Amino acid sequence: MSHFSTNSIHGGDHLKTTNDVITPIHITTTYAYSNNPEELTPGELTNPNVLIYSRENHPNAAQIEAIVESITGYPTVVYNSGLGAFNALMTHVNPKALAIGDGYHGCQGIADIWKRNFGLKQIHIDDDDDKAWEVIKPGDLVHLETPLNPYGTYFDITKYAKKAHDRGALLSVDATFAPPPLLDPFKFGADIVLHSATKFFGGHSDLLAGLLLIKSKDVKGQLLLDRLVLGSNIGNLESSLLVRSLRTFELRVARQSRSAETIISFLNKHKSRFSHLEKIYHGSLQNDEFINEQMPNGHTPVFSIELQTIDQAKALPSKLKLFHHATSLGGAESLIEWRAMSDNHISKKLLRISIGLEDPRDLVADLVDGLLINDSNEENELVEEISKLIV
Ligand SMILES: Cc1ncc(COP(=O)(O)O)c(C=O)c1O
Repeated sequence: MSHFSTNSIHGGDHLKTTNDVITPIHITTTYAYSNNPEELTPGELTNPNVLIYSRENHPNAAQIEAIVESITGYPTVVYNSGLGAFNALMTHVNPKALAIGDGYHGCQGIADIWKRNFGLKQIHIDDDDDKAWEVIKPGDLVHLETPLNPYGTYFDITKYAKKAHDRGALLSVDATFAPPPLLDPFKFGADIVLHSATKFFGGHSDLLAGLLLIKSKDVKGQLLLDRLVLGSNIGNLESSLLVRSLRTFELRVARQSRSAETIISFLNKHKSRFSHLEKIYHGSLQNDEFINEQMPNGHTPVFSIELQTIDQAKALPSKLKLFHHATSLGGAESLIEWRAMSDNHISKKLLRISIGLEDPRDLVADLVDGLLINDSNEENELVEEISKLIV
């Protein structure tokens, strides 16, 4: 049995179709059948070794699935985006009722389309009223996002798994903010796990992709047949970028997680010096008991801060030198987003921050610069503190 970073480089070697060390970019949409009539076998549409048409399968898509399977141990299907994966999940489960929480507004958007088109009933996942939960019946879906976008806060998967299973429903977990090795939602009762691979799996802000992880190979076969007709397979070019990204996956996530913890703990320790800084949201600041077990390998590299006024929140990104003011997360470069730009349901005082691979001391210094209000003594003291950080 080899380990995470070995698998992330070699987990798809058995599917290689050439002797290139790096699986080449295949731009073809169609593959020639064998000239030998004896070798023409119909019905192989979900076999990763059989190449017919790139909407069905192509070498780098097969590589991604094999690599993620070898890292996580769960059958995996890759899609052309995280929302493509959520749509596939809804299509597969076909719930008549859905319990869904706050979190990424795009998943809620898909649920609303299902409500409009098929009369999907919805309840909030944190509705405490037992009567409200009676709408959730066997075969329905409970969809939990943890860590929660945009805050980076944690929810107890075991608790929601029980809620779902008590009603005969399935629990899906969107773990985009805590990719492997940070979190394995299956260990706590999840039935299906979703990742926007656009984020940490991709890690370079240059591709869109989504993943569904499931517990059975049969379900994988059904998802592959659905994907074939929904047209939601990952594209040829993006898939080769994602295979490239997986080679450094563990290193990147571990470093981003460690840096985020260092930065958040620094900001939290010196919070009183930043008079505009109202609140920091992040799982590392929660005291719930389940967290040590659920997040054994580090915290999510994403967090949010709330400033006192909307104008302060709008202005902060323009004061920073190392953080791009942009949406998304999980890339090598750190990002900050005045979240109202892409989510119109969120507080306008909120900024979401994704920690990249820069040195955390430089990132803290940049944030301190942006958050301090003209006090050079204080700045000097904090610069001294930053130099003592162990990274
Ligand atoms: C938690 C979460 N789930 C799903 C998605 C959708 O992923 P994609 O943008 O790859 O469609 C996002 C995107 O930001 C997200 O943050």
